[in-house]
Amino acid sequence: MRVAFVGKGGAGKSSLSGTFARVLAGTGERVLALDSDPMPGMAFSLGLPQSDVGLPDEAVEEYEEEGRRRYRLRAGLTGSDAVEQYAVRSAEGVYFLQLGKARGGRWNNSRQHFGFQRLMDDLPDSGWSIVGDLPGGTRQPFATWGRYAETYLVVVEPTPASLLTGRRLARLAGMQGAPRVLVIANKVREPQDAEQVSARTGLPLLGAVPFDPAVGEADRLGLAVLDHDPQGPTATAVRSLVATLQKETERV
Ligand SMILES: Nc1ncnc2c1ncn2[C@@H]1O[C@H](COP(=O)(O)OP(=O)(O)OP(=O)(O)O)[C@@H](O)[C@H]1O
Ligand SMILES: [Mg+2]
Repeated sequence: MRVAFVGKGGAGKSSLSGTFARVLAGTGERVLALDSDPMPGMAFSLGLPQSDVGLPDEAVEEYEEEGRRRYRLRAGLTGSDAVEQYAVRSAEGVYFLQLGKARGGRWNNSRQHFGFQRLMDDLPDSGWSIVGDLPGGTRQPFATWGRYAETYLVVVEPTPASLLTGRRLARLAGMQGAPRVLVIANKVREPQDAEQVSARTGLPLLGAVPFDPAVGEADRLGLAVLDHDPQGPTATAVRSLVATLQKETERV
């Protein structure tokens, strides 16, 4: 399964994607969790203390082609090797990598950015599940960051701004020929919220996650919601999202 979480800033992408990755790993899949947001987020919901797990410079090699600077993985280093060597592991064995912090005077992160793209391009189709946490907004997800995804999961809150973002993402996904796009209604308070999210974005609903104060509490404590409240409403809802998508994926 290869999914990427997208949506408006603050919709809940990081909280849900890290939890989703751990639950998926718990079902026996080998999972790479990938945070393409240079600001930390997913590490916390994975329950990891590190929040800056980029590829080291030595993993990526610079070369010139037709006068342009390009980047590739170091000779002999495959995508799988790079994950095995440089990712950190969560309690359930999820491999975690993050687009590293931009460094240097100009905060240029081309090396990280392209190193990551090459790693993803090189990762074999079978044997790896991928769960990505993409940066908020509408610009880059489909063409660059989320290229690996078979399914985009748009996280949408039942608020006008979030619904509007969800609709824009749905339209953009259509234009880019994105494989499959589903919506997750998050922070749902009323029974009709989830249906409204699906109707207003025009996207099929994968499932809903209730508004859950334990998510905010976990954030304040610097804990993963799955560790803070393992049997609570968010953990339960995410287990159901994973199960539903696994069933759907088998059917495709
Ligand atoms: N189901 C939920 N119930 C209550 N609060 C939630 C829920 N999901 C997320 N939140 C809260 O919403 C806020 C944003 O969550 P999160 O950081 O996961 O969003 P994000 O989409 O990754 O944001 P960003 O775009 O800034 O990276 C956090 O304060 C989090 O505690
Ligand atoms: Mg985030």
